[in-house]
Amino acid sequence: MNIQESVAFVTGANRGIGKAYVEALIQAGIRRIYVAARNADTLGDVVAISPDRIIAIALDVTDPDQVNAAAQMAQDVTLLINNAGVLGSGGLFTPKSVETAQWEMNTNYFGTLSMVRAFAPILKRNGGGTIVNLLTIASVVNVPVFSSYSASKAALYSLTQGARAELAAQGTQVIGVFPGPVDTAMSEGVPLDKVAPIEVAKATLHAIEQGLEEVYPDPVSQSVFANLQAPLKDIERQFAGMLPQ
Ligand SMILES: NC(=O)c1ccc[n+]([C@@H]2O[C@H](COP(=O)([O-])OP(=O)(O)OC[C@H]3O[C@@H](n4cnc5c(N)ncnc54)[C@H](OP(=O)(O)O)[C@@H]3O)[C@@H](O)[C@H]2O)c1
Repeated sequence: MNIQESVAFVTGANRGIGKAYVEALIQAGIRRIYVAARNADTLGDVVAISPDRIIAIALDVTDPDQVNAAAQMAQDVTLLINNAGVLGSGGLFTPKSVETAQWEMNTNYFGTLSMVRAFAPILKRNGGGTIVNLLTIASVVNVPVFSSYSASKAALYSLTQGARAELAAQGTQVIGVFPGPVDTAMSEGVPLDKVAPIEVAKATLHAIEQGLEEVYPDPVSQSVFANLQAPLKDIERQFAGMLPQ
């Protein structure tokens, strides 16, 4: 897919990795970007990156009415970047762990599912396009300090594989991005080496242009996936082959 000819929609675009996607897409010469955040007032700095090419939209991905309204406004999208996500604190056995897990699942899994459902017909009409889902290394192996977050991202990983298979017929490329620790507000308390958000964005744009399905944008991610990737891809392709032709 050619980035310069694309029109993108980025959720959670007001900071962190979302904002880095906007910077990288503008740098790459994209035609237009819809940038979304729950409070559109927080998008001023992002729109200022290139005011003639960036349109701000208020969007909570957990609100189906807002998701449908955003899709109505953005009928020319060819690249959907599902970046919005949340990470709660505490393990599986704290007093609020069920509420935390529901919040993470509602945002990370069901919110992304709503976005994919709303934009799939738009991408089809516009020639197929690309969907990017922000996963994590914790999608594949539970990281117990973020147990319920890991579970929500494991669900999103599975959704990503399913959407890839179901949308293949309409020519939509579905990409999963699996970062290790990235230097954003979300990982503030994580005492590990972190890469800059722009590294995640640049690696994703490379994958979009090269037609790759998965992105391992940092050394932690690359080392986790080095031994896992081959058998997982074989099984994913085998299960995708069960869909009726
Ligand atoms: N940082 C890491 O180490 C890391 C590693 C792997 C994967 N990731 C993933 O990368 C993505 C971006 O994370 P980040 O590190 O950039 O975190 P961040 O700085 O906390 O940004 C999260 C973004 O998601 C938005 N958001 C949260 N709930 C939302 C909702 N219901 N509807 C719409 N937007 C919502 C936030 O907007 P508000 O201002 O409205 O809260 C914010 O823009 C997430 O999916 C995260 O899981 C991060």
